[in-house]
Amino acid sequence: MVNQIKFQALNSKCIECKKCSLSLTRKNVVFGRGNPNSKLFVIGEGPGQQEDEQGVAFVGRAGKLLNEILFSMKLSRDNVYITNTVKCRPPENRNPNSDEINSCSRFLDRQISLISPNIIILLGKVAAERLMNTPEPMSTLRGKVHYYKNTDIPMLVFYHPAYLLRSPSEKSKVWDDILLMKSITHGS
Ligand code: URA
Repeated sequence: MVNQIKFQALNSKCIECKKCSLSLTRKNVVFGRGNPNSKLFVIGEGPGQQEDEQGVAFVGRAGKLLNEILFSMKLSRDNVYITNTVKCRPPENRNPNSDEINSCSRFLDRQISLISPNIIILLGKVAAERLMNTPEPMSTLRGKVHYYKNTDIPMLVFYHPAYLLRSPSEKSKVWDDILLMKSITHGS
């Protein structure tokens, strides 16, 4: 079980953070969403407009598709914890830059260490690059089991739902990602 006091303290620190310039344009900090006692930890890129307005991760169109992907894995928001590489919205939904990612990294690292997940799913290239420190393309990162830092926590790279919305012909490939996930969790 996550230490609720430490998790709440981290949330409070994050909400007050002004370490990078995203704090100047954000409406809300988006710390994360879901069940912090869950063993599946999902990492996206950064909040979009709706997430910024509501202060909740993955509530827009990409979030709806993420719900469907989770549903296909017999999961819901209650069985997973979802957060982002950066906790504040990059203006115009651009990719977060390295300064913003580095400024936010202590929050993501601490979330992972407090939740201590059994498996991590990285949605898209920004999350994959941040966690694996690699510029490799999605085509070589997907379909393999990676490990979080020097631990035995498996990490899988999935297409980002926003990319799938832009490229619907790629949607069928999500099944391969789901099957890989099932093979390492034994369908549980
Ligand atoms: N895209 C993300 O990466 N994160 C969100 O919270 C919403 C859209």
